[in-house]
Amino acid sequence: MCKRGTGNGEWGTGNSEDALAENRKIEHLAVIMDGNGRWAKKHHLPRLAGHRAGAESLDRTMHWCKEAGISYLTVYAFSTENWKRSKGEVAGLMKLLSHFIKAKEKELIKNGIAFRVIGRREDLSPKLQKEIVALEEKTKGGDFTLVVALSYGGRDEIVRAAGVFNAEAQRRRERGESLEDIFSSCLDTAGIPDPDLIVRTSGELRISNFLLWQAAYAEFYFTDVLWPDFDKAEFDKAIASFSKRERRMGGRLK
Ligand code: IPE
Ligand code: IPE
Ligand code: MG
Repeated sequence: MCKRGTGNGEWGTGNSEDALAENRKIEHLAVIMDGNGRWAKKHHLPRLAGHRAGAESLDRTMHWCKEAGISYLTVYAFSTENWKRSKGEVAGLMKLLSHFIKAKEKELIKNGIAFRVIGRREDLSPKLQKEIVALEEKTKGGDFTLVVALSYGGRDEIVRAAGVFNAEAQRRRERGESLEDIFSSCLDTAGIPDPDLIVRTSGELRISNFLLWQAAYAEFYFTDVLWPDFDKAEFDKAIASFSKRERRMGGRLK
């Protein structure tokens, strides 16, 4: 059976100050970490140096999220389409991931950060899969969750979820669960609230197959800053921009 998810669709028509304040809180920030290649080019460095700088940027951002009281940070690290890249770049990215997992273990445990991977993990090498499972186990129960989307595609996730859904929907429907809640709980993100804010760096204005189902009512923040240059000032700008939004979720304004 798949775990019950937590859809964000309960806000309904409530328009009280409390409901508005609640909807200005970021519980879940998601980031499309784009622009590593262009950053490397700008600095006359190989693309992998850009990805290494990107990993450092992720490290910093994770701590800013924690300090800001955000509970979940989901980062798009490798898409189902990124397998099209050169063998050298893909191998380098996988090595970097494996290095990140080993290098960060102590720090994640010490800071109460749970590590979780979404995506087609079976596409990864057996060694990397083992390292991921081990880190997920060791960091379970942290009060902040870092979700890494790896060999992840929103369409792929939905198609895989549909298989589980078919097997479970009728029985759970009879218990009174809504079809959307059942479906949410069949996704890789089961149990994780939908993202409140999705940030994309490097000036691209598209979603590139990221969290297609979960982004239904997310707010978006786009910046020209390349991911390795994403600093605290830019992070604060994204948060400040979100805090001014009126999230109506299909309801009425006050
Ligand atoms: C994002 O940076 C990281 C991954 C997709 C792995 P890119 O590698 O896409 O950087 P650009 O878009 O070429 O600058
Ligand atoms: C999206 O970036 C995927 C990640 C950040 C991992 P891409 O660079 O792959 O996206 P496109 O090709 O510009 O849409
Ligand atoms: Mg890119």
